[in-house]
Amino acid sequence: ESMLAWERTAYHFQPPKNWMNDPDGPLFHKGWYHLFYQYNPDSATWGNITWGHTVSTDLIHWLYLPLALIPSEWFDWNGCWTGSATILPGRDIKMLYTGDTVDAVQVQNLAYPSNLSDPLLLNWTKYENNPVLVPPEGIGLTDFRDPSTAFLGPDSEWRVVIGSVINTTGIALVFHTTNFTSYDLVDHVLHSVEGTGMWECIDFYPISTNSSVGLDTSVVGPNVKHVLKASIDDLKLDYYAIGTYDPDNDTWTPDNAALDVGIGLRYDYGWWYASKTFYDPVKERRILFGWINETDTEKDDFAKGWASVQAIPRVVLYDNKTGANVLEQPVEEIESLRLNSTTFEDILVEAGSAIQLDIGNATQLDIIAEFEIQGTDSLKAMAFTESNISECIDAETKTSYGPFGVAVLADESFSELTPIYFRVVKDDDGNLTTYFCADESRSSLAPEVLHTVYGTDVPVLDGEKFALRILVDHSIVESFAQGGRRVITSRVYPTQAIYGAAKLFVFNNATGINVTATLKIWELESAFIRPYPLNHI
Ligand code: FRU
Repeated sequence: ESMLAWERTAYHFQPPKNWMNDPDGPLFHKGWYHLFYQYNPDSATWGNITWGHTVSTDLIHWLYLPLALIPSEWFDWNGCWTGSATILPGRDIKMLYTGDTVDAVQVQNLAYPSNLSDPLLLNWTKYENNPVLVPPEGIGLTDFRDPSTAFLGPDSEWRVVIGSVINTTGIALVFHTTNFTSYDLVDHVLHSVEGTGMWECIDFYPISTNSSVGLDTSVVGPNVKHVLKASIDDLKLDYYAIGTYDPDNDTWTPDNAALDVGIGLRYDYGWWYASKTFYDPVKERRILFGWINETDTEKDDFAKGWASVQAIPRVVLYDNKTGANVLEQPVEEIESLRLNSTTFEDILVEAGSAIQLDIGNATQLDIIAEFEIQGTDSLKAMAFTESNISECIDAETKTSYGPFGVAVLADESFSELTPIYFRVVKDDDGNLTTYFCADESRSSLAPEVLHTVYGTDVPVLDGEKFALRILVDHSIVESFAQGGRRVITSRVYPTQAIYGAAKLFVFNNATGINVTATLKIWELESAFIRPYPLNHI
């Protein structure tokens, strides 16, 4: 049985071999973007966790550097776990990370560059009096991890946020520090949500409501809201909410309690976890990294010798059209990989049809697609109500107004395909809801990989077309709907729809509507992801 397509992706970051999980401590320093990551140097499964290290000038092409942190002391003997960087005024760098101690207690440690004038930040020094924080009273010894980037308050003290759980309530603890070596716990939490369990990898940052400029982490003031993100351990899903931060009291309140952390919006409705942002001072934007784990078996991971990739970094913006969510868009640097493009204008996709798009190679693509329902005016007047339809319905289930979209990584006989699509549903009151879905049920003939149908509702505002942006990279599909209001990342393992056999289709499985589609599709070249030639320094 062919395992060819289970080989590596072409432009997503991954280490040369073995296991990777969370992105850690992203930062910009002296011309280089630095990314660290949870890495097992010995095996394609989780364990022996160290900090891998890589640098890039454009967030797309990456050069591997030697490991930055390895377990060496009692305070990180069982692993150098997730952490975040803080850039101080004057551009000094403090790195906080969780140590799994020799006794398997979760503590926070401080590390800093041994030589700040080194653009590559090759060597890191662990503070001699680590740990700087141990689990406070009332917090479980294994429920205290993943310090955030610090931000400066009105009292000139830094705040660090750390996730935990009490009973089943997920909580965000706040600590104050002036020197990063000693800390005071604030006597109340930044925020908590009942029933959401352990909060891992908390991220907390300001977002501008009246411009597309990203904000450095300490910014507060008018036209600024704050995003709180927690990685929900029980679900392995990243939930965020937009709200208001009160810097005097260190509390944060969600704009909409029904959309609180852990119960409301997600960054990604597919397979994506343990994300983290940083502020890019070069292009004044906030950039989001996320970990895409495997959905095959551990046996498969051992066979291929590696596991997981990082998502293409995304810019995070406030969606001032809905006022209710962020927008996530792949960094513009991805466009430097674009080769030839093909355009299809206003092609009619009739109910029940699929049209193959003749584009040549279809394994490395950047797709922009817009769909319009013909006779949209009459849509509300159409008879069917399908209030029994909810978000996760596969692409074979035909309803009046959906699904329609594109099928990527499809072979000609449709023995394998990954449909990315919209489905409009009308409820008994005549209200329309649009669902955005990715159906992996037929993505692979391999039986043991996950075959999930992912989906979510997505706001489609008056006058907007149904809009998709899709990045295809052999076995990863990152799909963005309505300018990034909702995102679904698919990890798929085609065995037939690979290399020259992989094709691209537009399809319309609706029974009651025709759609027109306009698409622009670029082939993407591979990124350079390889060792830094250190012998040349
Ligand atoms: C999230 C996580 C973190 C932890 C790290 C260990 O995936 O569990 O909470 O610090 O991974 O590798």
